[in-house]
Amino acid sequence: MAELKVTAIREGTVIDHIPAGKGLKVIEILRLNRPNGGVLLLASNVHSGKLGRKDIVKIEGKFLSEEEVNKIALIAPSATVNIVRDYKVAEKFKVEIPDEITGILRCANPNCVSNHEYTVSKFYVVSREPLKVRCHYCERTMEEEEILGNL
Ligand code: CTP
Repeated sequence: MAELKVTAIREGTVIDHIPAGKGLKVIEILRLNRPNGGVLLLASNVHSGKLGRKDIVKIEGKFLSEEEVNKIALIAPSATVNIVRDYKVAEKFKVEIPDEITGILRCANPNCVSNHEYTVSKFYVVSREPLKVRCHYCERTMEEEEILGNL
C-alpha cells in the first residue's frame, strides 16, 4: 500500500505516535486551533508499525513548553515529540508522565481548596496504565476520563 505523505514542516514541532483518534484532543488541549496560530496539520488514522494506527499533529512555528509536553503525556503517553529546524528533526524525545503533576490539571472535587484559593494544583501519579492520579490537597482520585475533562 502506498505510504501517505503529509507535508513536511520547516520549523516547529511534530507530535508523532499519538494513539489513533486522540490527535484532535491534543489540538484542543494545547489550544492550537486559534485563528492567529501558524499552520496546523492533523493526520489521523495513519498506518504505523508499532501502534497499528496513529495520529500525527504538526505545528509550524511553535515549540512546546514543559507544561504542554506534560499535558500531551496525559492524553497520549505513547507520543514522540520532534523539534524541527530547517526541515530537519533537530531533537526527538518520548513524552513521559511525571510522578507529580502541578498546575496543569484541575481537581474534580468542587470543594477542594485548590479550586478556591490561590493554590497551584498538585497530583501524585498513582498508576500510569490505567492512568490514575491523587490530589495532594483533598486526596480525591481521578481516572483517565475525568483527567482529560479537567486539563
Ligand atoms: N517531519 C516533518 N517535517 C520535517 C521533518 C520531519 O513533518 N521537516 C515529521 C515526519 O513526517 C515524521 C516526524 O516528523 O512524522 C519524525 O520524523 P523522522 O524522525 O524523520 O521520522 P521517523 O524516523 O519515521 O520517526 P520515528 O523513528 O520517531 O518513528
